[in-house]
Amino acid sequence: MTTANNQTMTQWSTEELSAQLSHWQGQYGDLNGGNLKLDLSRGKPGVEQVSLSNGLDGILQGNYIAEDGTDTRNYGGTRGIAEARALGAEIMGVPEANIMAAGNSSLSVMHLTLRTAMDLGLWGDGRLWSNAETVKLLAPVPGYDRHFTLSNHFGIELVPIPVTDSGPDMDAARAAVADSAVKGIWCVPKYSNPTGCTYSDDVVSQLAALPRDAAADDFVVLWDNAYAVHDLYEQGDTLTSIFEAAAAAGTVDHVVQFASTSKITHAGAGVAFLAASAKVLDALDKHLGVFSIGPDKVNQLRHVKFLNGRLSAHMADHAAIIRPKFELVEEIFSRELNGLGIATWTKPKGGYFVSLDVLPGLASKVIAMAKAVGLTLTPAGATFPKGDDPDDKNIRIAPTFGSLDEIHAAMDILTLCIKTASAEQVLGAR
Ligand SMILES: Cc1ncc(COP(=O)(O)O)c(C=O)c1O
Repeated sequence: MTTANNQTMTQWSTEELSAQLSHWQGQYGDLNGGNLKLDLSRGKPGVEQVSLSNGLDGILQGNYIAEDGTDTRNYGGTRGIAEARALGAEIMGVPEANIMAAGNSSLSVMHLTLRTAMDLGLWGDGRLWSNAETVKLLAPVPGYDRHFTLSNHFGIELVPIPVTDSGPDMDAARAAVADSAVKGIWCVPKYSNPTGCTYSDDVVSQLAALPRDAAADDFVVLWDNAYAVHDLYEQGDTLTSIFEAAAAAGTVDHVVQFASTSKITHAGAGVAFLAASAKVLDALDKHLGVFSIGPDKVNQLRHVKFLNGRLSAHMADHAAIIRPKFELVEEIFSRELNGLGIATWTKPKGGYFVSLDVLPGLASKVIAMAKAVGLTLTPAGATFPKGDDPDDKNIRIAPTFGSLDEIHAAMDILTLCIKTASAEQVLGAR
C-alpha cells in the first residue's frame, strides 16, 4: 500500500490523507454487493481439526472395561475413571488424585464450582458466597465472554482489571481484593482468551498467594487452563504450576482448575477436567451426585485409548493445520497496518485468538463496516463484562475455523475497514 513516507497516519498531510481515504472508500464501495459470507468470530476448531480425532469412533472394539474392572457402560463414578483422571493430570500438570474427569464441557464444571461456592460451600463448612449481600469476581480484561455470562447467571458482579503481557495487573488485583465482597478471580493462564498471553512465573506465584491477601476468607482462584497444550510452535510458552505455587503459599484449598479436550478431540464430544484439593473435590462431589449418576465413562475410555502416549503428536497435528492461519493474520496485519499508528495486535504462540486494538472509539464502527460487506466479527465489547469496552477499541479475531482463502479475504476486508475508519476519524479531528 502507499504509505506516505513511513509516517503514522496522524502525521500525513490533509491532502495525502484525503486522497488515500477516497481510494479506500472506493475499494470499500466495490465490496458492496459482493455477496460475501465470511466469519472471524468463531473460536472453534475447523473441520480438518475435528477430523483428526475420527479415530475415536469404534476404538473400543467392544471392550468397555476400565483398568480397575469398571464397566464403563454402567452408572457411577462421579470423578470419572482412573485412566481419564491420569489423562487430565497429563494435560493439567496436576496429580491424578486431585483430578475429576467429567462430561464434555469444562464450562459445566465451572458452573458446578460457582453453584457449589454460592450455595453449598467449597470447604464443607459454613462459608457460602451467598452469605454475602454482594458477590464479586475479578475479571481480567479483555477476557472470555462466557466467564462473564456464567458469573452474571449467578448474580455475581464483575470487577474488570487490566491484563498485561504477563497476566493480570497484580497491583490492581491486590487493591481490589481488599473488598471482602470480592470472592475470586477468573484466569485463563496460558494463551489467554483473547490476548494469547501466558502468565509469567511471578504472576502465577502472586496469584497463588492472592487468597491470603484477600479480605474474604472464601476467595477462589478460578484457573481455566483451556489452552494448556495448545502450542502453535514446537517451542511453546511454559506455565508455572499454580498447584505447586499454591502448595507453597498454603492456598491449595483456594485454587480450582479447569480444562477439557474440546480443542484436542471433538469440541462437542470431549472430556472435561477439574482439579482441586481433596477437600474441595469432596464438596463438589456432593453437588454433582445430585444431578448426575456419573459422567460418560465410555467416552472417557475412548479418549484414553485414542490419546494414549500421543497427546503431543496429536497437538502438533492441530498446530500444523492452524499455524498457517495465525501466520496469515499476522502477515496481513503487518503488511497493511504496520507503522500507521492505528492498531496493535497480539502474536500468540498458541491458543485460539488474536486480540486487536484499534483507535479508541472505533471498534464498533469497524465491526459494523465489516458486517455491512459480509464479514462477521465478534461483537464489539464482547471481551468486557456487560459488553462494555470503555475505550471501544478491542476486537477478538478467531482464525481457526475458516479456510486460508476465507481468512485471506476476511483480513483484507478487516484491514480496509480499519484504515478507512481511522482515516475518517483522523481527518474529522482536524
Ligand atoms: C478460556 C476458555 N474456557 C473454556 C472454553 C470452553 O470450554 P469447554 O468446551 O470445555 O466448555 C473456551 C472456549 O472457547 C475458552 O476459550
